Amino acid sequence: MNSAKPKPTPPGEVILEVKDLVQIYGKRPVLNGISFQVRKGETFVIMGGSGCGKTTLLRNLIGAQRPTSGSIHLFGEDITKISPQDLDRIRLRFGMNFQFGALFQSMTVGENIALPLQEHSQVDPSLIEMVVKMKLELVGLTGFENFKPTELSGGMRKRVGLARALALDPELVFSDEPTSGLDPVMTAVVDQLTLDSTRKIGVTAVVVSHDMTSCFRIATRLLMLGSGPRQGEVVAEGTPEEMKINPDPFLQQFLRGEADGPIPFRLSQDDYLKHLLGDG
Ligand SMILES: Nc1ncnc2c1ncn2[C@@H]1O[C@H](COP(=O)(O)OP(=O)(O)OP(=O)(O)O)[C@@H](O)[C@H]1O
Ligand SMILES: [Mg+2]
Repeated sequence: MNSAKPKPTPPGEVILEVKDLVQIYGKRPVLNGISFQVRKGETFVIMGGSGCGKTTLLRNLIGAQRPTSGSIHLFGEDITKISPQDLDRIRLRFGMNFQFGALFQSMTVGENIALPLQEHSQVDPSLIEMVVKMKLELVGLTGFENFKPTELSGGMRKRVGLARALALDPELVFSDEPTSGLDPVMTAVVDQLTLDSTRKIGVTAVVVSHDMTSCFRIATRLLMLGSGPRQGEVVAEGTPEEMKINPDPFLQQFLRGEADGPIPFRLSQDDYLKHLLGDG
């Protein structure tokens, strides 16, 4: 492995570029020609209804699965084409905060946060201990290193997930639903942590969420993925102000959280079978 630390991406430069991304499950295109760019310093929020393909997209972006076609340039390299060794090298530059925390239940909070440091760097144990303390302080959980994840609330676990994603001081952090299942106050706390890490430490964030309040609180730019008849496509993309005035009925229904509109909620059993078989 090449141990030389790569030069960080300068502010404003493209850090992530997705072109014509297609992901087909069976015969069904879940993502169907998605393209967008994220620049260094942005908080880019990907939103969309349940099951529209947000996690699938994120898994592609971190190289956890390969797309059916299309390219994903991360720090200038197409991660859909590179070797596992090269992907490991790029993984040192980004952190991932998973949808369901993905903390190891048998390990303490401190051990969970220390894991990326132990796996990816030759850091002295006393330094690891210090980094763990610093990351816990950053997410407002000073002194919790010896707790097990099961001894924490959902909101605290989400914050440990974020601390672990920030363990290697990455340039870019991906977060999958960092506030789902949290009450409004805890949502605001986690949003503030995202804002702190982007504004104070300069981390670029790509966040998946369907919580509208949270999306508009943290985003510098948003992208909405379609579902139902618009499954797989980008419905809209823009700054929070641009999204609010975008007349797309699909987007507006989603932003207002209304039951009536083009977003389908009912699927017959026949349609569902067709959808699973890729015939619908
Ligand atoms: N490995 C897989 N194999 C087949 N189908 C899958 C796979 N992973 C996801 N899907 C399907 O792809 C669609 C998108 O799933 P995904 O988890 O990406 O949605 P999501 O937008 O993250 O949903 P949520 O908001 O509920 O987290 C769903 O219909 C799901 O059933
Ligand atoms: Mg998901």
